[in-house]
Amino acid sequence: MDKILSLGLIGCGGIATGAHLPGWANCKRAKVVACFDVDRKRAEAAAEKFAIPRVCKTLKELLALDEIAAVDICTPNYDHAPAALAAFRAGKHVYCEKPIAMNGREGAAMVAAAKKARRKLMIGLHNRFRGDVQFVKSLIDAGRLGHIYYARSVSIRRRGVPSWGVFGQKKLQGGGPLIDIGVHAIDLAWFLLGCPKPVSVSGKCYETIGKTPGHFGLFGAWDWKTYDVEDFAVALVRFAGGQTLCLESAFCANLPADREAAADIVGDKGGASVNPLKVCLEENGTLMNCEPQFVKDAAPPHHLGLWNFTDAVLDNKPVAIPGEQALTIQKIIDGLYQSSKLGREVKIG
Ligand SMILES: NC(=O)c1ccc[n+]([C@@H]2O[C@H](COP(=O)([O-])OP(=O)(O)OC[C@H]3O[C@@H](n4cnc5c(N)ncnc54)[C@H](O)[C@@H]3O)[C@@H](O)[C@H]2O)c1
Repeated sequence: MDKILSLGLIGCGGIATGAHLPGWANCKRAKVVACFDVDRKRAEAAAEKFAIPRVCKTLKELLALDEIAAVDICTPNYDHAPAALAAFRAGKHVYCEKPIAMNGREGAAMVAAAKKARRKLMIGLHNRFRGDVQFVKSLIDAGRLGHIYYARSVSIRRRGVPSWGVFGQKKLQGGGPLIDIGVHAIDLAWFLLGCPKPVSVSGKCYETIGKTPGHFGLFGAWDWKTYDVEDFAVALVRFAGGQTLCLESAFCANLPADREAAADIVGDKGGASVNPLKVCLEENGTLMNCEPQFVKDAAPPHHLGLWNFTDAVLDNKPVAIPGEQALTIQKIIDGLYQSSKLGREVKIG
């Protein structure tokens, strides 16, 4: 019989019940056998809905279960590092939601702990698994777009502060739209650029709308009284080898259209955009803008991430999105926040 990966779920809120548990339910090679949430009612509700046999009272209890080989961390950002470090100490593999952590220091500790424990660490930057992103990657790999030297990445909501969780609280979240939704846009542009080494970033954050009363948006009204993160972040990132990335990320910005986890890639033979998918080519002396048809996700991208992690653990293969890569994205984010504070370009170590 094929091997099965037994998992423990840590944090049973929105992303766990909306994306991860359905993904695990559709995974032939994995089973969630226990869950834990500081809010026991949420853990019980998730366990009932998704037939999880055991609800643990503490993280310690969950991590002490020998039958569990891996954990799936779906807690808010402030808990990613503590939960992952505890899991590595208990000898478990870790799949953790994005961002890797609150900052690069915590992320680096997670990467080091995974290495020390000889366990796998994968971060849920699932947009890489999207059909449009994979299609553009295949064009790049086939040389159709030539040398890719520039990318523009965007996660913009006109009014889209989450009305649940702790997404507007810096001390619990690490930042605002940049660390929450910008992280996806940066990651997929960086992935399509070929994962180059970032060397510096010049950025600026704006705080205008989120912390003032009387607004509502995509997710209704948010708690403006506790909102202390940026509304809008912009930056230019330079990479070794001369490539550059321009990025914009907003929970609130007076721009006409929302565009999330999107990127435009510029090469010397062609270009491409994801979300929406478009390809710019030159054929027989004619410039063409193409809209590829019937490009679909192989499965929900969140699920593809979880299944990739499962195969990597069971078959002892590398994970698709290792902690080291997510740490690089986090260093760009940290650099942008620092640059905004200092009012100048900063180096990325
Ligand atoms: N990849 C994506 O598209 C995506 C989308 C949404 C959220 N996320 C990420 O998922 C994480 C959770 O977001 P969410 O929207 O599910 O938030 P949420 O607030 O809906 O859920 C978080 C859950 O964690 C629980 N929790 C808090 N602290 C805990 C702790 N120390 N131990 C155990 N449980 C704890 C809470 O009680 C809650 O049930 C965040 O890091 C977020 O960035 C990713």
